Amino acid sequence: MNVKKGVRGHMEQLVITGQKTLSGEVFISGAKNAVVAVIPAAIMAKGKSVIENLPSIEDVTSLVDTLKNIGAKCEFTKDNALIIDSSEVNKYCATYESVKKIRASYYLMGAFLGRFKRAEVAMPGGCNFGTRPIDQHLRGFKALGADYTIQHGVVKLFAEKLVGCHIYLDMPSVGATINIMLAASMAEGTTIIENAAKEPHIVDTANFLNMLGAKVKGAGTDVIKITGVDELHGAEYMIIPDQIEAGTYMIAAAMTGGDVVVKNVIPKHMDPLSAKLQEMGCMIYEGDDSIRVVSTGNLNPTTVKTMAYPGFPTDLQPQMTALLCAANGTSILTENVWDNRFQYINELKRLGGHITVEGRVAVVEGVKQLMGAEVNATDLRAGAALVIAGLAAKGVTTIGNVKYIDRGYEKIEHKFQAIGADIRRVKTIS
Ligand code: UD1
Repeated sequence: MNVKKGVRGHMEQLVITGQKTLSGEVFISGAKNAVVAVIPAAIMAKGKSVIENLPSIEDVTSLVDTLKNIGAKCEFTKDNALIIDSSEVNKYCATYESVKKIRASYYLMGAFLGRFKRAEVAMPGGCNFGTRPIDQHLRGFKALGADYTIQHGVVKLFAEKLVGCHIYLDMPSVGATINIMLAASMAEGTTIIENAAKEPHIVDTANFLNMLGAKVKGAGTDVIKITGVDELHGAEYMIIPDQIEAGTYMIAAAMTGGDVVVKNVIPKHMDPLSAKLQEMGCMIYEGDDSIRVVSTGNLNPTTVKTMAYPGFPTDLQPQMTALLCAANGTSILTENVWDNRFQYINELKRLGGHITVEGRVAVVEGVKQLMGAEVNATDLRAGAALVIAGLAAKGVTTIGNVKYIDRGYEKIEHKFQAIGADIRRVKTIS
């Protein structure tokens, strides 16, 4: 068929025939939320970095395109690595066109500011779950000595020099913590971030910065101390496993009465989820870098409250709601991180979920059987929740807007097929 570009095009859907019990092993990729910070960090170094355990996801492709636009040489290798040579980077601008798909493009602000003492970066895109302000990032940059303006959707930052400072964040923001860490790594003197976020990807970014020659201490606690250096050099670095991807497969195992070994994980990062799955009646066996989830499919209801790390991650909230639909009774789920992260619930209801939302609280009444239906992913993790629901539903579930899922899940249909799911990707004409 002759398809006119921009008018009609190929869309992709995931088609799932549910009620297959999952079993076998699934390998987890590198962490999305770490790699989207580590790649911008690499452009602060004058030299070549090699980033290993790179997840093959759309957020990485988008960031690498942006890096190429500013003069970085980027090369993907066959063994899941990315080589970034930032020696020739000579621009500090990222347009809306290049950053609109990824929220984490805000890390380019901290990275450009650190290296060039200026940055011009369009306000970020990415998943929409309510207002996603960046006031804490900007407060941090200002405390380091940068002035900024926001004009026509572009944040412009400028500093004569960056000088270390003491900053207390209003809330433990992941993005603000990392962004301040990036810029402060190349400031004069010492910066202290208090009430810092403690997520695993913050520790990973700090470790990478230290490999580049930065001096970051305390990442993973709520006080981070950064002593600025004049120059950073390239380094080789291996990204940590993706806590959220791992959690998604663990929940899918629980949902289908499965027996799945999730490999290449850091079990400690999974504690808040493992505890909930155990409470719901699943068996959890931890290895050094693996977790086995065994479920009878007979699930107890529970209460879940999302919190900053080490609390239950908000990025597993939609998947957990899908699971609670299959519990024997009523569960209560409270979203404490984002104002509006329940848009996907209408889609879960199409699959037969009984859920009522009141503000930040969702009341999920377990049902005997979800039923396949046509649904749409409203964002990345919402898409994963629909996959999980579809795997347990009777009949066929068709999920549209797969592009959201591809932002953060590497080869999702292949990984699920390998553990026994009936899931395939089909192209449709829109
Ligand atoms: C990161 C994750 C995202 C996850 C979130 C919370 C990445 C790339 N994304 O997003 O997947 O859902 O952490 O774990 O790592 N806030 C402000 N002002 C700010 C910054 C944040 O008010 O300047 C508020 C937000 O509205 C939100 C809360 O703080 O309510 C947490 O946001 P934050 O931790 O910054 O999330 P992100 O870094 O955007």
